[in-house]
Amino acid sequence: MQRSRILGLGVYLPPRRVTNDDLAKMFDTSDEWINQRTGIRERRYAEEGVFCSDLALEATKDALKDANVRLDEIDFIILATLSPDVHFPGTACYLQKKLGIPGIPCLDIRQQCTGFLYGLQIADALIKAGMYKRILLVGAEVHSSALNFTNEGRDVAVLFGDGAGAAIIGASDDQNRGLLTMHLHADGNFADILMLEIFNISKKPYITHKSLDEGRQFPKMVGREVFRVAVTRMPEVIQEALQSAGVDLNEIKVVIPHQANLRINQFVAASLNLPEEKFFHNIQRYGNTTAASIPIALKEARDEGLFAEGDLVVLVAFGAGFTWGAGILRW
Ligand code: ACO
Repeated sequence: MQRSRILGLGVYLPPRRVTNDDLAKMFDTSDEWINQRTGIRERRYAEEGVFCSDLALEATKDALKDANVRLDEIDFIILATLSPDVHFPGTACYLQKKLGIPGIPCLDIRQQCTGFLYGLQIADALIKAGMYKRILLVGAEVHSSALNFTNEGRDVAVLFGDGAGAAIIGASDDQNRGLLTMHLHADGNFADILMLEIFNISKKPYITHKSLDEGRQFPKMVGREVFRVAVTRMPEVIQEALQSAGVDLNEIKVVIPHQANLRINQFVAASLNLPEEKFFHNIQRYGNTTAASIPIALKEARDEGLFAEGDLVVLVAFGAGFTWGAGILRW
């Protein structure tokens, strides 16, 4: 049986840097508060008029070059985001239009910070089934348009940044390389803990001036509960993946965690007794880019030489839903 392998990675981060001090000019916060609790120093914001699919397009171009794959070889597009261009149709359709490759199937994934891992699992299954050969998987977010830059929304506003990461996933006959295992979970009992309502489809009309006045267009989060469950589920699912792949934790070269909060990831590393250097972090520079964070971090870690061909890499995520998962790649 063929395995699926990441043939190349691409990243796009909008050029506008927004520091913690910049945010402190808009509402009551400080670099010290944000850095102490999250590790974040700055993030990137897309300019007015930039869509999620625009960021995804740039990351895709970078990934195609990196993979040495032609655009016309792509036979399926999967895009993970919680900040879609419009409510419907899916943002993958807009990305496809911008790429200029009509006809191939497009799929949107709505699994927030675990979206890239859900996409990887689906791409892997489609490739193993022999249905597709070159799948484009993108995680992209424009959070900056949907944050509440007042004291009321400051707990969430400081966390998120914009960006996109893309991977070209291909079939490989090499049994020693590629995705070895992937374990996905969700628990909808926690769906309201971190959510953006924006409208309520049970109401007629489903969006009102009142709902906007109440700030329902902004995300809401019970931060402590997210923290508490994340630090339990992430080590648990890493162990599950290791066990299933028959791999010892010591054999892992690097862990690429979703970049939600540096403190969460430090907690997870400590609870696994893993040296912190084995956990890759770039949240300091980009904040939480949700579905984009794993492909962005994976590419940066690879380019920094933190892993190379043959090394074992763990990907792990936790996010709204709650959803969580972990996978192991042999690069
Ligand atoms: N700046 C300054 N003060 C703030 C800010 C801010 N940005 N936000 C909240 N505060 C205040 C609060 O109002 C509160 O003040 P009070 O004591 O006078 O009431 C005080 O700081 C403490 O607030 P807490 O919410 O209790 O702060 P906590 O220590 O829990 O830290 C944080 C908040 C950083 C959000 C933390 O709970 C956390 O990191 N949780 C995980 C969140 C996360 O990672 N979410 C995303 C993951 S899922 C995904 O990626 C989609």
